[in-house]
Amino acid sequence: MPFYKKIVINKTTSIFIWKIEEDFNTLFRQVQLKDVSLARLESMKSESHQNGFLAVRMLLQHIGYTDFDLYYDNFGKPHLKDGKQISISHSCDFSSILISSTITGIDLEVLKEKIVTIAPRFMDVRHLEGLNNVDKIKKATVIWGVKESIFKIKNEKGISFPQHIFEKEFHLDDNRGIAQLRFNNIIEEYCFQFEFVENYALVCAFQNK
Ligand SMILES: CC(C)(COP(=O)(O)OP(=O)(O)OC[C@H]1O[C@@H](n2cnc3c(N)ncnc32)[C@H](O)[C@@H]1OP(=O)(O)O)[C@@H](O)C(=O)NCCC(=O)NCCS
Repeated sequence: MPFYKKIVINKTTSIFIWKIEEDFNTLFRQVQLKDVSLARLESMKSESHQNGFLAVRMLLQHIGYTDFDLYYDNFGKPHLKDGKQISISHSCDFSSILISSTITGIDLEVLKEKIVTIAPRFMDVRHLEGLNNVDKIKKATVIWGVKESIFKIKNEKGISFPQHIFEKEFHLDDNRGIAQLRFNNIIEEYCFQFEFVENYALVCAFQNK
């Protein structure tokens, strides 16, 4: 399946998802790449990573951009030349991009049991109390995605998930929540939204102004 889904977050923000069912050659034939992207693609060790990278370019082309409109800053954060904001995430079978007029972050994570074991390392585990095992996996994955998304927005060295980003209590049925970044003597509030796409958690975050 090529283009999988568009999710409209608001008037100026949408998420686009590609389900990767094509092989490398099929994707490669269909995208235009800058030399620097070609070099990056060649340096990637796994075909799965290469396909995720190419699927992002397929998404860009699907909405009228190409790889030539995209560039990266020194931290690896992607930008569009027309000034619109972009955030990118890929994980196994899916690639996703978020396009917006404001700075946002997106994260796509596959649901895995291991997340519950490592939860104490990155989140407040009281937020998993009383949940069955499936919901624990879903909620911990969402919280991981929230922290990755906020990290992608801030794009600053030194941010630690357990020490600087704090999720407020929320329920899986809410499909949204609030998190705080407390870093370098500044407190910022972020709102996030999430949904589940097959066995993946898709999260996006925005700064609350
Ligand atoms: C950079 C990082 C956010 C990528 O996240 P990931 O889940 O590994 O991978 P994703 O597929 O979701 O995202 C990758 C995309 O993020 C984007 N990205 C990379 N660095 C970025 C940055 N500094 N800011 C914003 N976006 C960034 C890129 O577009 C990249 O894809 P591309 O290079 O193919 O275009 C992540 O590796 C990271 O460094 N996280 C913070 C570190 C951390 O604190 N970890 C755990 C502590 S407990």
